[in-house]
Amino acid sequence: LNKNKTVDKRLLSICELLEANITYYNWVGFYFRNGNKEELHLGPYVGEPTDHTIIPFGKGICGQVAVSNENFVVPDVTAQDNYIACSITVKAEIVIPIFVNGENIGQIDIDSNTPNPFTEADERFLEFVCAQVAMIL
Ligand code: SME
Repeated sequence: LNKNKTVDKRLLSICELLEANITYYNWVGFYFRNGNKEELHLGPYVGEPTDHTIIPFGKGICGQVAVSNENFVVPDVTAQDNYIACSITVKAEIVIPIFVNGENIGQIDIDSNTPNPFTEADERFLEFVCAQVAMIL
């Protein structure tokens, strides 16, 4: 329990740093697989509170990444039919999986109020962040 508390504080710090320093990162949060269940649970995040604290595998961008094990960059959320809207201000989204021992155990999810803001530099940077996160879990 103490370890989880420390981990959650660190994850929240990462969210805060990302949101504060990258202007087009407007909601930053972590989702983690719930044990052996095929669902994601919301972890630490920064930004508007969301109703979507539990997301079934396959549902929305996050749920699709839980199944595909691949980055998902969405330049325009209105063009996605399997998408869970959290806020009407959101224009774009990026989700990068977190691997521990080769297993997809969760993800970082970032929403942007700017259309089409994410580049391959964001993907490489966030893959690095996720690799660091994997080491503190
Ligand atoms: N938009 C996500 C849901 C999570 S919110 O962005 C916080 C999705 O479609 O999976």
